Amino acid sequence: MKLQDKVAVITGGARGIGLAIAERYLAEGARVAVADIDVAAVEEAVAGLRPLGAERVMGVRLDVCDVDSIQAMVQAVTQHLGAIDILVNNAAVFDMAPVLEVSEASFDRQFAVNTKGLFFTLQAVARHMVARGEGGAIINMASQAGRRGEALVSTYCATKAAVISLTQSCALDLIRYGIRVNGIAPGVVDTPMWDEVDALFARFENRPLGEKKRLVGEAVPYGRMGKPEDHAGAAVFLASDDSEYVVAQTLNVDGGNWMS
Ligand SMILES: NC(=O)c1ccc[n+]([C@@H]2O[C@H](COP(=O)([O-])OP(=O)(O)OC[C@H]3O[C@@H](n4cnc5c(N)ncnc54)[C@H](O)[C@@H]3O)[C@@H](O)[C@H]2O)c1
Repeated sequence: MKLQDKVAVITGGARGIGLAIAERYLAEGARVAVADIDVAAVEEAVAGLRPLGAERVMGVRLDVCDVDSIQAMVQAVTQHLGAIDILVNNAAVFDMAPVLEVSEASFDRQFAVNTKGLFFTLQAVARHMVARGEGGAIINMASQAGRRGEALVSTYCATKAAVISLTQSCALDLIRYGIRVNGIAPGVVDTPMWDEVDALFARFENRPLGEKKRLVGEAVPYGRMGKPEDHAGAAVFLASDDSEYVVAQTLNVDGGNWMS
């Protein structure tokens, strides 16, 4: 077991990629907090995870846009599971529109959750880790969208490019405390988020529902879309001692979509 007795917080952990990582971390012996804004989804996720270790899993409401909520989450997790060793900074939202139609509200919302929320969650957990003095591992969920622009996806791509940049800067500043910051850049993953993406492409590219999803899956060199659980191995690696000398990297886990 690679994460025996480690305490991990997974933001946006109630579904999709975050939930798959929560499941795998529990299987690797970790104690896991599923932290998400969707309380009903948190309850459902925790109920599903309990058979893997009822005393090692908890759910906590978290809005990454609210620093008080982040503080309360850190306090609740340390109280119930112990000092935090691992943060998976995974919560995000998606929107798209042609550049001429992007609204200020959509722009602000995506940056608030995906970039500002990710940064201040990282900061709060890093402060906790520094005070404890035993280092830690932080994994930021980026995206292939952060590697290059996309005509209809300007804002989301920019939020994820910022995540890659923040991963580098935060890693360089925090490694002196033994805190390793790295990222994962998924490609196209079959989660509830991609159902929303598909519906938006259907609208803006005038396609039948499901077509875009099928096409992007077929275009992946591996031959299919990613599944949430495809990302769990990389998340275990970056959280464990196996990646002790890996710092400031964003690892592509995308079936070959992007090479860097
Ligand atoms: N699905 C993909 O194709 C894909 C591709 C590349 C990167 N990613 C990234 O991977 C991560 C997970 O994606 P997913 O597809 O599993 O997403 P998802 O939409 O299925 O899940 C995201 C979770 O984040 C939560 N969340 C949203 N706003 C929040 C907030 N303010 N505070 C706390 N939680 C909040 C949601 O409730 C949800 O449970 C995201 O960072 C996403 O950008 C996804």
